[in-house]
Amino acid sequence: MKRSLSGIQPSGVLHIGNYFGAMKQFVDLQNSYDGFYFIADYHSLTSLTKAETLKENTYNIVLDYLAIGLDPNKSTIFLQSNVPEHTELTWLLSNITPVGLLERGHSYKDKIAKGIPANTGLLTYPVLMAADILIYDSDIVPVGKDQKQHLEMTRDIAMKFNQQYGVEFFKLPEPLILDDSAIVPGTDGQKMSKSYNNTINMFATKKKLKEQVMSIVTDSTPLEEPKNPDNNIAKIYALFNNIDKQNELKDKFLAGNFGYGHAKTELLNSILEYFGRAREKREELEKNIDYVKDVLNEGSKKARAIAIEKIKKAKEIVGLIGNI
Ligand code: TYM
Repeated sequence: MKRSLSGIQPSGVLHIGNYFGAMKQFVDLQNSYDGFYFIADYHSLTSLTKAETLKENTYNIVLDYLAIGLDPNKSTIFLQSNVPEHTELTWLLSNITPVGLLERGHSYKDKIAKGIPANTGLLTYPVLMAADILIYDSDIVPVGKDQKQHLEMTRDIAMKFNQQYGVEFFKLPEPLILDDSAIVPGTDGQKMSKSYNNTINMFATKKKLKEQVMSIVTDSTPLEEPKNPDNNIAKIYALFNNIDKQNELKDKFLAGNFGYGHAKTELLNSILEYFGRAREKREELEKNIDYVKDVLNEGSKKARAIAIEKIKKAKEIVGLIGNI
């Protein structure tokens, strides 16, 4: 069975961009791929400095993974920092990664442009990500479009290593980016992102969810008049509804006498319905946090056993003789 691997940073509460861009694929693929899905807690240290928040967010992501239907009997759910071999491989890879490659990183440049201090973690973030992927010989990596360049860098780093040491050691992974959900728009029409404050959080309280949906930006076409059916509400609605429902909504916009408020209420109802079962499951799981911890521990042990074997071989290849 081919292997699918991906990770999510515990840098905040998950939103429907994370879900449709990546997590939904984790679940959809779990019968056809050997799935490895982790919480990228080492990565989140590049932006999160509050230890308590990090701990809380980490448990929340495991809850989210389980609630949306990731099955620990089929997929390996683990914590990045439980497999320190990721950081060990990062060091080996760092020595063949040109600084220029990292300086050209979109995500790095964006953060620097926003005035975030340029620490080493931020710069070498893609090397750790390459290590995450390469250490498990991953075949595919389901992600949103914002991670495309990181995947290209991973392939570059893998090729460089293989070339430098004259071995076919690292497998070149393929990104899996779905056209329809590559960039999920936020309430303001820009890419949905925690840092733009434009998110719709799948497990927000119903009250909060309503606030988020009602804050979707629209134009000021009067109620009676026809409206452009390609608006921010319709784009998000499309993620939750089949083509017939999408067309129905379009027709209502074109007919007029259908306000954005009505459309937002329909969207809110679809979101609540779509995540209804997951929400119930999450509430159940919250009461059984020991089970959640067990899932993470068992998954981490399984992942680590694979990572240890790979790093042993990597050390041999580069000439490091320490292998206790
Ligand atoms: P992160 O934590 O920022 O996001 C998790 C996943 O959600 C996707 N995503 C989106 N997709 C579509 N539309 C959006 N608006 C949207 N916002 C977020 C992201 O593309 C991602 O797939 N560097 C990664 C975490 C990581 C990783 C890895 C991923 C660390 N190591 C190894 C894959 C493999 C990140 O920051 O994702």
